[in-house]
Amino acid sequence: MTDPEAGTLSGRHIVLGLSGGVACYKAAEFARALIKSGATVQVVMTEAACAFITPVTMQALSARPVVTSQWDARQPNNMAHIELSREADAIVVAPASADFIAQLAQGQAGELLALLCLARPAERVPLLVAPAMNREMWAHPATQRNVARIVADGARLLGPASGDQACGEIGDGRMLEAEELRDELIAHFQPKCLAGRRVLITAGPTFEAIDPVRGITNLSSGKMGFAIARAAAEAGAVVTLVAGPVHLPTPRGVARIDVRSAEQMLAAVLPLARSHDIFVATAAVADWRPAATSEHKIKKDGTGATPALAFVENPDILATVAHLPVAERPWCVGFAAESHDVVRHARDKRLRKGIPLIVANHGPSTFGRDDNALVLVDADGERELPRSDKLRLARALVAEIAARAPRAARTVA
Ligand code: CTP
Repeated sequence: MTDPEAGTLSGRHIVLGLSGGVACYKAAEFARALIKSGATVQVVMTEAACAFITPVTMQALSARPVVTSQWDARQPNNMAHIELSREADAIVVAPASADFIAQLAQGQAGELLALLCLARPAERVPLLVAPAMNREMWAHPATQRNVARIVADGARLLGPASGDQACGEIGDGRMLEAEELRDELIAHFQPKCLAGRRVLITAGPTFEAIDPVRGITNLSSGKMGFAIARAAAEAGAVVTLVAGPVHLPTPRGVARIDVRSAEQMLAAVLPLARSHDIFVATAAVADWRPAATSEHKIKKDGTGATPALAFVENPDILATVAHLPVAERPWCVGFAAESHDVVRHARDKRLRKGIPLIVANHGPSTFGRDDNALVLVDADGERELPRSDKLRLARALVAEIAARAPRAARTVA
């Protein structure tokens, strides 16, 4: 399986700053994740950070000598703070201790890391800060004041998360995990083509119950819909994801509503449709459901007779949303998973559903896979997005949607 993050940070040079905290061990994994994603990483450590993890480890992982002092004679001009901050595409401080955040808030420059944050050209080198500290330290008014100050001064906060802490307590202040930090950074560099827009997405299969233990469903994995949710969030959208029964983690920053059946999916989608600008229906909604659901498990009666199942058609969620009154209707994108004559069926389906854009693929060969190939069909014709992993495709599709969907003329409820 190809790593969907491989190369996502190619050409990006990251200054990774470590201040003192137990979470320094996560910074080692974070450095590794950045390198695997194609970034070059220059590690800068404070004296306190060196008490938690050695520069040797960080040098081995980043394949570059670690810088710890502004008096580092290896810098030809002896101006590490200028050189390091000028060549960075971003400075990420992870972990950022309470003390370090206080230094940033006050513009202190006693140690190289704080000095280079102060010396960075703020308009082109973003500063991302991942706090890591005990929950009482995080909640303290002094820390909250300092955090508000650095955010007002232009820093971006990554986290913190809530949960078990190294000290044994439970609460806010945990540093994000290495992969979460990497994903935040990848998201940071994505074009914000959906900034200010609200996107509603359906994903996964639906499950239509026959009795309490059985039902009919399909092989949709939900991966494409989840990838689109992530890509839309990376592009700056506010994203709501209505998911059928799938075991996939919720992309960061995405609001998720879990449902099971088509009727539940429709009931979740309809009230949300009018407050969203764009609706992307990727769910493989079961076309039919049993006419009646047995309250108890249906038992064999010993005669070999099979139960007489009758079916009724499920509501068409996409068509229902696409036919809302204009003022309440988001811009609709459908998916068409076909087994043959993909483009012809997609064209027909687009007209039948009354939607501006339909995304066609070859259903049986893509369900559950990590890659896909898509054909975009709209009133102007077709455009192919060649085979790629689903996350890259999702990013390309999000850019296509952003270019086509009109900016909201409607008032968001
Ligand atoms: N869709 C939906 N509700 C349904 C059926 C489909 O919202 N009850 C949406 C899907 O999410 C997808 C699009 O409609 O975006 C097309 O789904 P597909 O299953 O390919 O088409 P159907 O309308 O079910 O037509 P058919 O099964 O005849 O191909």
